[in-house]
Amino acid sequence: MSIIKIATDETIAEAAALIQAGEIVALPTETVYGLGANAFNSLAVAKIFAAKKRPSINPLITHIESLENAQKLAYFSDEAMSVAREFWPGPLTLILPRRADCGISDLVTAGLETIALRIPAHKIARALIEKSGVPIAAPSANSSGEPSATTPRHVQQSLGENAPFILAAGACDVGLESTVLDMSGDVPVILRPGAITAEDLKPLLGVVGYDLDNHEKPKSPGQLLKHYAPSIPVRLNAIDVKKGEALLAFGGLKFMGIEGGGHAADMPDHALRNLSEETDLTQAAANLFTMLRDLDVPENKGIAVMNIPDHGLGIAINDRLKRAAQGR
Ligand code: TXA
Ligand code: MG
Repeated sequence: MSIIKIATDETIAEAAALIQAGEIVALPTETVYGLGANAFNSLAVAKIFAAKKRPSINPLITHIESLENAQKLAYFSDEAMSVAREFWPGPLTLILPRRADCGISDLVTAGLETIALRIPAHKIARALIEKSGVPIAAPSANSSGEPSATTPRHVQQSLGENAPFILAAGACDVGLESTVLDMSGDVPVILRPGAITAEDLKPLLGVVGYDLDNHEKPKSPGQLLKHYAPSIPVRLNAIDVKKGEALLAFGGLKFMGIEGGGHAADMPDHALRNLSEETDLTQAAANLFTMLRDLDVPENKGIAVMNIPDHGLGIAINDRLKRAAQGR
């Protein structure tokens, strides 16, 4: 069984010792929980892939605690430097040309010429990286294909004994994985939308493209895999609820009916969650994965999801929902 340890100076030191010893540790970040290992150590990184049952073609994000250490691993253009200075620490991952002598395991980068880097904003995550003294490779702490874990309990439910040590610091603030911005080419391109949006980046970068589902020439291998999926079907842009379905609502329920009669507001607790009654997208993002998990119970045959506006953080929420709707 796995142990959940509340983050304190002692347990952070314990976790850092495990990282140094080549073991894996689940850790909190402001986006989602990560499953971390020493990014220099291939044997340690291999344990992450085994624990998650993750395909080895899918590269990992390397987490560092300072821009200085980030520059030892990748080449930063002037533009990349300005983005890093503005948005790090924070929920933004940069894809940059990897330094040939960076020492990061080829498993982390899946043999690519590029590397994904992020300085997390979460104090505990940064303390752990600092104490470990090495960059920490960490994908989201869930079994491959499941929704990302945003609480220690969800890490435990998803990975079980495959995540033996969970450093815990409550629920994650953002609740969605970081924005992945590819700055290795001529034009900056968002490969995965997140809390840092194209609008946020435009003042610094001018044009920012999207490349979210490019099956011809995939840039972010992970984005093509089935992802974020509950075990029951997910139906998007629902304007009513079918028999046996649960409802993932957004905003008021006044006009939501149940097929065959009845009102959505009267649905039982196991079948009803509201991402944000006030239609606040930040709140909706923070609730998304927890609520998908709450509704993914045997009593429900599927999940109907109300329309979420496709702007700002809504773009990232809809990206995850579209993948959830593709099924496992
Ligand atoms: O918020 C987050 O990013 C969390 C926390 C723990 O930091 N991590 C996370 O990692 O979501 P993961 O492994 O679940 O997602 C990383 C994504 C994958 O889609 C992967 O394919 C992509 O980043 N990626 C990693 N390295 C890449 C590279 N060199 N080029 C393109 N995409 C890359
Ligand atoms: Mg993931």
